[in-house]
Amino acid sequence: CGIIGIVGRAPVQERLIETLRRLEYRGYDSAGVAMVADGRVDRRRARGKIRALEDVLRDQPLDGLTGVGHTRWATHGAPSETNAHPQRAGRVTLVHNGIIENFAELKAELAAEGRTFESETDTEVIPHLIDRALAQGLAPLDALKSTLDRLRGAFALAVLIDGEDELILGARRGSPLVVGYGDGEMYLGSDALAVGPMTNRIAYLDEGDYVAIDRTTARIFDAEGRPVTRQIRIIPPAAALVEKGNYRHFMEKEIHDQPGACQHTLSAYLDPVSGRARAPDGLDFSRVDRIQIVACGTAYYAGLISRYLFESLARIPVDIDVASEFRYRAPPVREGTLCIVVSQSGETADTLAALRWCREQGLSTAAVVNVHTSTMAREADILLPTHAGPEIGVASTKAFTSQVAALSALAVAAASAKGRIDAAEEARLTRLLLEAPRLISAALALEEPIRALAPELAKARDVLYFGRGVMSALALEGALKLKEISYIHAEGYPAGELKHGPIALIDEATPVIVLAPSDALFEKTVSNTAEVMARGGPVIFITDEEGARRAPAGVRLIVAPGCDDIVAPLVYAVPIQMLAYYVAVQKGADVDQPRNLAKSVTVE
Ligand code: G6P
Repeated sequence: CGIIGIVGRAPVQERLIETLRRLEYRGYDSAGVAMVADGRVDRRRARGKIRALEDVLRDQPLDGLTGVGHTRWATHGAPSETNAHPQRAGRVTLVHNGIIENFAELKAELAAEGRTFESETDTEVIPHLIDRALAQGLAPLDALKSTLDRLRGAFALAVLIDGEDELILGARRGSPLVVGYGDGEMYLGSDALAVGPMTNRIAYLDEGDYVAIDRTTARIFDAEGRPVTRQIRIIPPAAALVEKGNYRHFMEKEIHDQPGACQHTLSAYLDPVSGRARAPDGLDFSRVDRIQIVACGTAYYAGLISRYLFESLARIPVDIDVASEFRYRAPPVREGTLCIVVSQSGETADTLAALRWCREQGLSTAAVVNVHTSTMAREADILLPTHAGPEIGVASTKAFTSQVAALSALAVAAASAKGRIDAAEEARLTRLLLEAPRLISAALALEEPIRALAPELAKARDVLYFGRGVMSALALEGALKLKEISYIHAEGYPAGELKHGPIALIDEATPVIVLAPSDALFEKTVSNTAEVMARGGPVIFITDEEGARRAPAGVRLIVAPGCDDIVAPLVYAVPIQMLAYYVAVQKGADVDQPRNLAKSVTVE
């Protein structure tokens, strides 16, 4: 899941470990390093946390100025030391992100030649293929190229070869890989954060590129084997400096980062002086007849929330799909459709594939992404940046609210471009949205009452979330947050749908979280809450002051700041994030790196 490679001037073991620790946020279940010294590559691997790998290295340290490191998130083969990377065959040792789709057929071919395999991974065929090519007399770069031509699937690689003390080979197809240019040193990394503290000069490899780095140069080739140059960019220090500060977890810090993250994001789309909402150049909503949103996970829920706004304010019909289903459903394409992908990382494999599919169909595409140098940012026709800063916690918080903020502002821009609102209404909505950072800060003050609920919720086996309208979409996100980090089973539902099934789950031991701002649907939500209470379900009722006065008796009240409908999803996101966070802390769970999850999923 995370890759680092260093061709250094000084021993690299410490720096490989430090980098792997920095990449922990991506989620992983095993880790390993390999280094080359005196022509011999040696490796150490361990299941579990980086700490376990450090223990191994303490007993059996490695030497070398050139090395690679990896954190693995299992795809083929359970998390174990044997399946951890680096994987090795003959003279070749490498680390890999992604999936090799045709590994079974390659494995059969190699096994028929008498090659033996020690792991259950798809990865292990790659060192075998490169080793076979080397044995046939090919030079390292040619051996790599001939291997790449045989591989199907998505991958990023970093390769060491016995006998090559100052060389790392790399390749990128589907999974990102960056080259870092240091002072008499060179690096490969799975993202800018991997190499950030060592250098701020990086080049992103393009799709299909492969590369050979030594201490001073990077020789880059495109998929056809032609030498190419890729622009070296100076990355901002923010990407290199990600610290927790005084917070216990990144997630806690990122929840508190939200007023700033939303403010930065909103100010890219809203002008407080003119009261206007603006779409970036090239995005003309007056010509958009339909919107297709595609995303995964939390980003999908941000899209779901924005659908209400695009439809109600701009009267543009919106279709929305989870990315893993979208292109296989292959919906009929209509002219005038704008495809909007939403992604924190800009690298999620399914979302990227959806973006490419839309482009192939001739649709115009826009990408709401937080990593502005990511593949989606580069490939979409229009970049719609969020400005949340690097998000480290696997469970998305500030990236989510920034996505909602950007999409809400764009819905206002769309409404204005479509002539659905006049200048006065546009200015009013702009002003309301610009109040969101202040309201989010006010919602952060709910920390204490929410922390107080955690011990009881932590005992639950199931938790239900419900709301109406846009709050039904936020209910889904609330349930996802709780599942992800506290491992409690949770479901989100539109309140009106409860009686068509989920109400059967309700008993005294099933807490129900109701998202109920005092909006036009409040009375109906209250009725649905009464139905739950009649069946003994303990209710946590998140509302505003007005709603608290009209809430059913017997509920636990959480009183959020009063706000207009357009900012309610941003404000109510805060208590549900804090609720998940404190329940997970209460349970002693690994909040920033929940089991089985990865921050950026670059496989299908
Ligand atoms: C992973 C993460 C989720 C995230 C989803 C989409 O599953 O664990 O938190 O929402 O990917 O990621 P993206 O980078 O595309 O927003």
